[in-house]
Amino acid sequence: MKKMILLLAVVAFCSVTAAVAVPPGKTLEFTKSPMGKVIFSGQIHKDAGVKCMECHNKDVFPKMKFGTVEIKMADIYAGNYCGVCHNGKRAFEAKANCNRCHVK
Ligand code: HEC
Ligand code: HEC
Ligand code: HEC
Repeated sequence: MKKMILLLAVVAFCSVTAAVAVPPGKTLEFTKSPMGKVIFSGQIHKDAGVKCMECHNKDVFPKMKFGTVEIKMADIYAGNYCGVCHNGKRAFEAKANCNRCHVK
């Protein structure tokens, strides 16, 4: 019985941390660019008033799972992925601000 309670406690604890370990509290690191890695902060986006659904919908980032989209700058400039907002209107423009996303 004690073992059972312990097991339940562990399961409950894991599901709580799993629910917390997502954006906004989390950062994602995109490391594939020669321009330097891109650190995406869920918190900054939440604080800027961006809703989950604005990004997590079938046209932008369909899956809440890191690594399911491959982001190229051509897509961003064309207004896809990060470029849905980083176009100088909703948020700073990608073309003129490489180093606000890419850090060495
Ligand atoms: C500004 C855009 C944006 C907003 C807003 C956003 N996300 Fe995300 N989220 C992303 C991106 C980009 C990924 C990575 C997706 C991929 O690689 O396919 C991601 C991934 C995730 C993941 C998976 C993390 C991992 O390590 O695999 C979860 C969970 C998630 N988001 C939950 C949320 C929740 C909950 C909200 C709202 C509170 C939210 N997101 C708001 C852009 C956003
Ligand atoms: C739904 C709109 C939206 C999408 C999609 C989005 N962002 Fe943002 N982002 C914002 C807003 C709004 C801000 C805060 C205003 C600003 O800094 O221009 C922001 C701020 C940022 C900042 C903070 C920069 C600084 O100097 O403080 C970074 C970095 C960033 N975004 C990277 C990304 C990356 C990388 C992606 C794609 C994975 C992405 N964003 C997708 C709306 C968005
Ligand atoms: C809004 C955030 C953001 C801005 C601003 C930005 N990038 Fe990116 N960039 C990304 C993300 C996200 C990736 C994907 C990285 C990965 O998959 O690891 C990327 C990938 C890249 C890549 C590799 C893929 C490809 O398309 O060849 C290069 C090169 C690159 N960026 C150059 C630039 C340059 C040059 C600028 C400025 C003119 C710039 N980036 C501005 C977010 C940004």
